Amino acid sequence: MGKKLIALTGALAAGAAALIAGAPSAQDASKSVWDGAYTLPQAERGATAYGENCAKCHGPQLTGLGEAKPLVGPEFLSAWNGLSLGDLFERTRVTMPMDKPRSLSKEAYADILAYVLKANGFPAGAGELSTHSEVLAGVRIDAFKPTAALSATTFASDAAATAPDPNGAPNPYVADAGFLKMPLGRTMGSSSGVATDSRGHIWVAERCGANNCAGSTLDPIVEFDAKGRFVQAFGHGLLLFPHGLYVDAHDHIWVTDGHSDGTKGAQVFEFDRTGKMLRALGKPGVSAEGPDTFAEPNAVLVAPNGTIFVADGHTPGKGAARIVKLDASGTFIKQWGAHGDAPGQMDVPHTIALDSRGRLFVGDRWNNRIEIFDQDGKLLDVWPQFGRPSGLFIDRNDTLYVADSESRNPEGYGHHPGWKRGVRIGSAKTGKVEAFIPDTEPNPDAGATSGAEGIWVDRHGAVYGAQVLQKAIVRYTKPPAR
Ligand code: HEC
Repeated sequence: MGKKLIALTGALAAGAAALIAGAPSAQDASKSVWDGAYTLPQAERGATAYGENCAKCHGPQLTGLGEAKPLVGPEFLSAWNGLSLGDLFERTRVTMPMDKPRSLSKEAYADILAYVLKANGFPAGAGELSTHSEVLAGVRIDAFKPTAALSATTFASDAAATAPDPNGAPNPYVADAGFLKMPLGRTMGSSSGVATDSRGHIWVAERCGANNCAGSTLDPIVEFDAKGRFVQAFGHGLLLFPHGLYVDAHDHIWVTDGHSDGTKGAQVFEFDRTGKMLRALGKPGVSAEGPDTFAEPNAVLVAPNGTIFVADGHTPGKGAARIVKLDASGTFIKQWGAHGDAPGQMDVPHTIALDSRGRLFVGDRWNNRIEIFDQDGKLLDVWPQFGRPSGLFIDRNDTLYVADSESRNPEGYGHHPGWKRGVRIGSAKTGKVEAFIPDTEPNPDAGATSGAEGIWVDRHGAVYGAQVLQKAIVRYTKPPAR
């Protein structure tokens, strides 16, 4: 695992341009940050303004200090990949500097953004970065440089050549990306959390029409009826970055907040289905690996006996990489896991699920594998055959659904050559993959995420995929056999 991290850091030091990827993105006809979105003199002005207004918190080299996140590198790029410069500009202008938001001129914010682009290795161009949100909204942040097609050697390099085709299973599903109807005036934001309750209602945790709820007044937890019609939404001002969503046996809605800002975040919430908050685990705004705190809680589930499991840690190579076990009252019982790729270690435990025998499946994303534990943390098995897991779901018949939103051929973030993104479906008993719903993003190698990150399956077998890049909840059903 250390090897992968070093490779990525090295590539970034040499400029993100070193991160080679596939053909130019066909998804967006408008411009990208690779087309030259700023000028060098503008970035120089931005460096000065950054030094005066931002460096004390984000560090002189933009690498972040404490709670103030890095503004260069893989964490920053993967957070903003697929969004627009308009999103980043508005987020910065409205919330930063944290102690004095909106205090700079629009020109100064644009200059600082130019400096941030330069520091991330994006090329300068002929024209200055605009201060108009509409113009900025037309420029896409692509973390990876579009280039000519990959050489065949990239694929041959890994075990993929000897293993059976990891993308070869049939796809018996049809997709419906428009099933859920948001209320008038709202659009679906990025989501990694979807679940259904006992009435077939569909619950979504979406990131406030964007990929972040910080500063938003929108309600990120949204309920739809079984026909996809909007019912209600709640949770405004409570969550920064809704990440994992789970509906328990009592139809209680559990949501994790993966970010923290010193006053809120890094918590796991339980709501009843009217939206009343029943419990908040962790301490608001305290991101730490303690017995009563969480660092970056990714996912939560509740076992039939009430035991609560939380998968904690979203940053490869540092911070938390653990499974936390709490009793039904929320009291800490134990934790296990440590950064690494040895059996039983983990890196970015992004998702968890229980099978009918009570085995805990952990999506060990950075290691491109599932680890299976008993409920005391004893490792039982390691499964690479379902891809790079962002989301896991196991139904009553022990059918396992695994969402891979990150596999990429090039070196660097998501490196998993030969594996396509999509949902692999098979048996949690035998480990055999039986179906594969490929992601539809035309150029997955150009970005860190696409397709479903969160996944759930209702009682009738309809599969729901929660997508970060595409900002959609896609419903997959099998057409009746003729
Ligand atoms: C007083 C400290 C402080 C100052 C000054 C400050 N920031 Fe921040 N910034 C933070 C903290 C803390 C966070 C993380 C919490 C959050 O996301 O709101 C953050 C988050 C951000 C993010 C979001 C990063 C991400 O990946 O989601 C951006 C962008 C940002 N700051 C830009 C700036 C810029 C540009 C300036 C200068 C104009 C600035 N900040 C000044 C503390 C600060």
